[in-house]
Amino acid sequence: MGPNGSGKSTLSYVLSGKDKYEIDDGTIEYNEKNLLELDVDERANEGLFLAFQYPMEIPGVQTSFFLKTAINSKRKYLGQSEMDALEFAKLMKSKAEELNINTEMLKRDLNVNYSGGEKKKQEILQMSMLSPKMAILDETDSGLDIDALRIVSEGVNKLRNKENSFLVITHYQRLLNYIKPDFVHIIADGRIVKSGDYSLALELEEKGYEEISKSA
Ligand SMILES: Nc1ncnc2c1ncn2[C@@H]1O[C@H](COP(=O)(O)OP(=O)(O)OP(=O)(O)O)[C@@H](O)[C@H]1O
Ligand SMILES: [Mg+2]
Repeated sequence: MGPNGSGKSTLSYVLSGKDKYEIDDGTIEYNEKNLLELDVDERANEGLFLAFQYPMEIPGVQTSFFLKTAINSKRKYLGQSEMDALEFAKLMKSKAEELNINTEMLKRDLNVNYSGGEKKKQEILQMSMLSPKMAILDETDSGLDIDALRIVSEGVNKLRNKENSFLVITHYQRLLNYIKPDFVHIIADGRIVKSGDYSLALELEEKGYEEISKSA
């Protein structure tokens, strides 16, 4: 959590390997690897996943084709065989149904003319199909209606286990009613200024960023 412009999305981009960021100092350790030595696709294949704050529209690329390509390139990287068309279709259908996504929508170009909430749900569909080790959700809750918020949160909770982690960026304590975080970190002006447990989110709701940042 952190005020607008504090660097939350920037952190998510640096972790996931978006280009044009120059890292001055430090390393990012992940599964005994230095992420900074890996390209963006290698990071994804190693299990990193980013759900964008503003998902991109990609005209000319059918959503289902995109999902199949992503899954199979990860499987290839991991030395697994390609998922055949039938197996893929079954997986996509069951995951889409869980998220209350109409599979007809997945025949359309990726995110093109999807509503704001549909785009966010599509990101979560991608996430649940790729089952990443480390998923970063950048304000996935904003733009979701009440039911979608619950469904998306259930999707996260279902995936959550001892082998994976989620970095959930949000402005709203409301999301944390559904997804109970192990840790809450507050970022301000590019730095983590305070860390705590769930109670920190409640304190934040009450006091606001200014007071918390000042006391930190
Ligand atoms: N390409 C860029 N050039 C210069 N400044 C940038 C660039 N990209 C981001 N910034 C700045 O970096 C700061 C951090 O931006 P970032 O998007 O990480 O904030 P955020 O914490 O995600 O905010 P929000 O809650 O509004 O999403 C902002 O002041 C932003 O304007
Ligand atoms: Mg942001």
